[in-house]
Amino acid sequence: MKKTKQIEKNAKTVNRYLNSKLKGNPKRLYDAAGHLIANGGKRLRPHMAIKSCQVLKGKTSNAMPAASAVEMIHNFSLVHDDIMDNDEMRHGVPTVHKKFGMSIAILAGDVLFSKAFQVIADSRLSANATAQLVSRLSKACVDICEGQLLDVKMAEERKIPSQTEYIAMIGKKTAALFDVSCAMGAICATNKTTDISNLSSFGRNLGIAFQITDDLIGVMGDPKITKKPVGNDLREGKKSLPILMAIRLAKGNDKKIILKSFGNPKISRKDLGKSVEVIRSLGIEQDVRKQALKYAEKAKKSLTKYSGPAKIELISLLDFVVKRNL
Ligand code: IPE
Ligand code: IPE
Ligand code: MG
Ligand code: MG
Repeated sequence: MKKTKQIEKNAKTVNRYLNSKLKGNPKRLYDAAGHLIANGGKRLRPHMAIKSCQVLKGKTSNAMPAASAVEMIHNFSLVHDDIMDNDEMRHGVPTVHKKFGMSIAILAGDVLFSKAFQVIADSRLSANATAQLVSRLSKACVDICEGQLLDVKMAEERKIPSQTEYIAMIGKKTAALFDVSCAMGAICATNKTTDISNLSSFGRNLGIAFQITDDLIGVMGDPKITKKPVGNDLREGKKSLPILMAIRLAKGNDKKIILKSFGNPKISRKDLGKSVEVIRSLGIEQDVRKQALKYAEKAKKSLTKYSGPAKIELISLLDFVVKRNL
């Protein structure tokens, strides 16, 4: 399943906007802040902000500051996430802390975080819309932090979380930003609360579906396509849905192989590779994608009352999210 032409088109516009904002001195700090952006990324969240604005008949240019801001927040969360997850590769290049060192990586994340709010404050929207954007985006950032802590805590604990606890965790660490991306796009077009809440709910459910497939890719994806390593979630002891399903399903020697690498920072690449192979052979993919589909269908329902090309584009994103290997 490929990204749509529209994602690529919006990505180009957003890139220009981001590049113009992420400049300054010391240059090394801004190189670090723009490192992941310069080397890849799908720009899904800005695309969703733009389409959410368009589906409510708003002007695309009005959504650009919000679209760029959510991509900055996304990148801030990636830079800090790679530190927390001990990840060394993303977008096919060394992660920011690996390339620039820990101090610069922390600061690069902070710059991205701060610039996101500056971009919104400097936008030419009404004072009321601007205040709403700031309020919603800051709430989403708090959710991301809470969700990330839940993720880390679950990984540290032996306790196996329930599916409800897993969904609540990814709801905060990932879906909150998809939710606010759509809600912010909507706010750039209208002040009608029902429309804002419909788009917000679309983003939230799409976000949950997105993280479920991301977790699948994390244990059985192809690094050549994803440009990030496979198996690290297993090594870090992440309680992701596919990992929990795999542990539950595996028997005998298969189970032993998986548990040997689960939460074992000292595991060799070779043994980690063996676990990935075992998980691939268990046939959990369809079940995991079915769970993602459930949330994609919920998301679709939020857009029932809308029509037009922007709606078609948003709906096609659901297909991308559920079927994606990237
Ligand atoms: C990765 O998100 C982090 C998660 C929330 C799972 P993306 O897959 O959207 O990141 P990009 O495309 O590399 O920016
Ligand atoms: C995604 O984290 C959520 C955030 C970055 C806030 P993950 O750790 O699950 O995503 P990847 O696999 O590193 O992209
Ligand atoms: Mg990570
Ligand atoms: Mg993480």
